[in-house]
Amino acid sequence: MVEWWNIALGRGGPDGMAANPRTITDVQATILSAHENSTVEDKISFYNTWSKLYEQDMKLLDYQAPLLASTCLADVMLEDRDQALVLDVACGTGLVAAQLQKLGFCNFHGLDGSEEMLHLAQSKSLYQSIQKCILGAESLPLSSDIYDVVLIVGALSGGQVPYTTIRELRRVTKPGGFVCMTTRSNVSNQLYKTQLQALMEEMEQKRLWVKVKVQEIELWEKATSELESKGDSIYIPGTIYIYQKSRIQT
Ligand SMILES: C[S@@+](CC[C@H](N)C(=O)[O-])C[C@H]1O[C@@H](n2cnc3c(N)ncnc32)[C@H](O)[C@@H]1O
Repeated sequence: MVEWWNIALGRGGPDGMAANPRTITDVQATILSAHENSTVEDKISFYNTWSKLYEQDMKLLDYQAPLLASTCLADVMLEDRDQALVLDVACGTGLVAAQLQKLGFCNFHGLDGSEEMLHLAQSKSLYQSIQKCILGAESLPLSSDIYDVVLIVGALSGGQVPYTTIRELRRVTKPGGFVCMTTRSNVSNQLYKTQLQALMEEMEQKRLWVKVKVQEIELWEKATSELESKGDSIYIPGTIYIYQKSRIQT
């Protein structure tokens, strides 16, 4: 039987062999097919199946989030990068740690819900520790106040990681440490983005953290449909947020 996701991934049959070289249209169809995933289990299953094509597909999509978020973080963290313990949440195949390593960071822990994505991340020998974790369903399997930096890139959006997970990201960050988060700013993610920002601001009002930097990026990645792009652009915009956890705990 040829499963629906094999059709979306352009695979010929159950042996998983690609029938043709992938094009941007294939990638757009694959990502659009994931929008039909109604449960977390469906979404994780989608990533498990997509894992081997993920990096080449994201290149076709001109996905720059790992580079942009890492550079944004490095701009505010000028010192002691080699000493910093970094948690890469929803690490996928390890694109974020690979970028951070080029900027002088070298101690990484990774978390993700997809075993297959984690398997590829593990094969890069970038992470000292890797754990499977379904975000939103459970608390992070980690103690409080242990990371100098926590990042989540490409996963805070509708149908993926619930925005309330940012409370957990802050919890595991050391007082004075940084939390770097990204979200898409395309039409279908507007409600999620508004809710995410409202919670970020509420947490700032409660003095749990302080906003350090917000960077709006026009060319985040190529759109998956005409409806998602703005004007003549074939790209959707995205946003990077950096918060610093308060040193004095209230
Ligand atoms: C678009 S990829 C981003 C991966 C990596 N951060 C990057 O930028 O390349 C989204 C990742 O989030 C993970 N993910 C999505 N929803 C999740 C959830 N609820 N719990 C855990 N992981 C989730 C997927 O398995 C996938 O690896």
